[in-house]
Amino acid sequence: MAVVILTLVTYVGWIVLDNVFYRQQAQPIAFPHDLHAGQRQIACQYCHRGVNHADIAGVPSVQECMDCHQAIPKLLKESVEVQKLKGYWDRKEPIKWFKVYQLPEHVRFSHQAHIARGFDCAYCHGQVQEMKVLKFPWTSAWWHSPGTMGWCLQCHRDNKGPQDCSACHK
Ligand code: HEC
Ligand code: HEC
Ligand code: HEC
Ligand code: HEC
Ligand code: HEC
Repeated sequence: MAVVILTLVTYVGWIVLDNVFYRQQAQPIAFPHDLHAGQRQIACQYCHRGVNHADIAGVPSVQECMDCHQAIPKLLKESVEVQKLKGYWDRKEPIKWFKVYQLPEHVRFSHQAHIARGFDCAYCHGQVQEMKVLKFPWTSAWWHSPGTMGWCLQCHRDNKGPQDCSACHK
């Protein structure tokens, strides 16, 4: 009996703590990756242009969103979220996206180097094209989730990537 109660308390506590402390901040616009990258099959590189030639992937400007959304006026009227997009456009205001992936300052990372070696976005970011709201792909072994040093090193060991401290640390 004690075991059952303990298990229950732990379980409920876990859910509560998880929601209190680890809830992801909401984005200024609920951008649906599933509609764009999944249903409409817009290539990841179309919006994240840096991946093939730069360290950072980059996120499209309001102008780039509007290049498409102005061409589909129906969308502009219909959805609250698209109205928000149009608001940023009218005010000439950049969208301040909340960063889901963020390495500490002292760590070096380059998209270009990894994409050139043929690694898939999904290995590091999960199945983004299926996500309504983009989420960090925590694994059950959270200490070994994407972005932790153990995770980076594991793949570097398996694939002959650099393993000396100075490769990843400034
Ligand atoms: C080897 C792992 C890895 C692969 C493969 C990878 N990423 Fe990333 N990505 C990361 C890490 C780590 C960060 C955080 C970088 C930082 O904070 O400096 C990141 C950050 C990002 C960001 C936000 C910050 C930025 O750089 O603008 C975007 C967008 C992104 N990745 C998109 C992509 C896309 C699209 C692909 C596939 C074409 C891809 N990534 C492939 C590991 C990866
Ligand atoms: C290559 C064209 C294209 C680009 C670029 C694009 N979109 Fe879209 N977007 C679409 C299409 C097409 C849909 C409609 C998908 C559907 O309903 O099937 C859509 C749907 C949406 C929706 C959901 C509308 C709803 O039904 O609630 C939002 C929000 C949105 N886009 C925001 C953005 C933002 C913000 C950007 C820039 C970061 C952007 N889009 C860039 C083509 C684009
Ligand atoms: C139509 C444009 C568009 C397409 C296509 C698109 N993205 Fe994004 N992506 C965005 C926008 C806008 C954001 C910032 C809002 C958010 O995090 O949902 C973003 C954020 C991200 C981030 C998180 C960046 C961070 O650290 O906050 C990753 C990772 C990412 N995208 C990967 C992908 C992958 C992988 C694909 C292809 C399967 C893809 N994206 C397709 C527009 C796009
Ligand atoms: C999916 C496997 C994989 C993951 C995950 C991965 N790497 Fe790598 N990384 C590699 C490989 C393989 C190379 C060697 C690429 C080459 O030499 O062409 C590399 C190269 C690098 C380089 C050298 C880049 C250059 O310009 O020469 C840095 C820095 C780096 N990785 C940092 C990181 C960091 C930091 C992380 C974790 C946030 C990470 N990597 C995660 C496989 C990975
Ligand atoms: C493949 C890339 C990579 C290599 C090689 C690497 N690190 Fe790291 N290291 C990281 C990443 C990514 C983080 C940030 C992890 C996090 O925030 O969870 C980190 C974090 C750390 C931290 C923790 C700093 C803090 O913010 O608490 C220390 C200390 C550290 N590394 C030391 C080393 C030493 C010493 C070596 C060489 C033996 C080394 N690292 C090699 C990627 C690497």
